[in-house]
Amino acid sequence: MVEPFDAVDVIRAKRDASPVPEDALRWMIDAYTRGYVSDAQMSSFAMAVLLNGMTRDEIRVLTDAMIDSGERMSFEGLGKKTVDKHSTGGVGDKITLPLAPLVAAFGVAVPQLSGRGLGHTGGTLDKLESIPGWRAALSNEELFDQLRDVGAVICAAGSGLAPADKKLYALRDVTGTVEAIPLIASSIMSKKIAEGTDALVLDVKFGSGAFMRDIDKARELARTMVELGTDSGVATTALLTDMNTPLGLAIGNANEVRESVEVLSGGGPADVVELTVALAREMLALAGQPDADVEAALADGRAMDSWRALIGAQGGDPDAALPAPRETQTVVADRDGVVDRMEALPFGIAAWRLGAGRARAQDPVIHAAGIDLHVKPGDAVSAGQPLFTLLADDPSRFGRALGALDGAWGIGDAETTTLARGPLVRERISV
Ligand code: URA
Repeated sequence: MVEPFDAVDVIRAKRDASPVPEDALRWMIDAYTRGYVSDAQMSSFAMAVLLNGMTRDEIRVLTDAMIDSGERMSFEGLGKKTVDKHSTGGVGDKITLPLAPLVAAFGVAVPQLSGRGLGHTGGTLDKLESIPGWRAALSNEELFDQLRDVGAVICAAGSGLAPADKKLYALRDVTGTVEAIPLIASSIMSKKIAEGTDALVLDVKFGSGAFMRDIDKARELARTMVELGTDSGVATTALLTDMNTPLGLAIGNANEVRESVEVLSGGGPADVVELTVALAREMLALAGQPDADVEAALADGRAMDSWRALIGAQGGDPDAALPAPRETQTVVADRDGVVDRMEALPFGIAAWRLGAGRARAQDPVIHAAGIDLHVKPGDAVSAGQPLFTLLADDPSRFGRALGALDGAWGIGDAETTTLARGPLVRERISV
């Protein structure tokens, strides 16, 4: 076959900040997926995108080309609206676990195709695999049947969705080009649009534990993704949410499942409940139920029934004991005062070093590892009071975890400490 374009011309166009013609951009992605365009050429192109950006139209074409590299799923015929949620990832972010069954309790289908963690942000599938028997791999048929019968599915995305993204993401990871907003937006949205959901709510995080530290960058990413979804016929909105402090009190896997079950039982930490409720309202509004009483479904057991059905349908035992750590070490307050700081990123890194996360894609996670917080910023403490407990299977992990936490938290004077924190949900973005 005679190739209709030259990769070097496409790279030069982006390098010189000239428009890249639609057919050339589509070809570039297709030829890269086929192996005709080399990793060297694609990484040069990705760097040019990082430096010069892309127009809205180019991002749309790039996303579309990545979708076209694989299969497109369809939930037509289900007889229910489908709504999904995507979070850009944070520390202690277990919101998918209570959210998917909560929204499904209102008769909406939630096809939550999720990933595993890499680095300091945990993966939803890793957390759920703490539950004995639960399995993440479902065929497309099983996924469809469960959506029809149970309403909520949380499973691994099949390899058929946007294979171009898989290849490009691995390349970006090792070429310093992960941070380009057009590349992040097209990567996330190609998978979500290919999945075939009717509507999508994005939880775009900013702050020290997030991908985007800066709220302005997070807003730009959120707008770009909302435009992409909308242009493709997927009703899409985004919330910008604060990820400077870990979400909830549990950071890890099994402990995050336990905390999610507390939320589904009508309890749980206030910030986890607040974000779960805010995202559920957004999802249900997009599904045509703007007045759904979300809190009532948490309080009266409907969300819990839906969780039990979801876990059971995927082979898990919702009543089974979760793995417990063999070793623990508790850090206590060295003085009286008010907790004025707990920074998300070092807590995420410490949990990862304890074994809750993986350094390489092929590594296993230790489900019982992580950190349980006993206090949050704003809480008054007395000298000797437990602040947080490290959980591990091997005590040799405590030293490096404590190293990550050096300077990550603080206690101020009760009289003078004021916390200048904005609301957890900072902005809503729609078109
Ligand atoms: N998640 C993705 O799927 N892609 C990115 O580029 C970043 C986060």
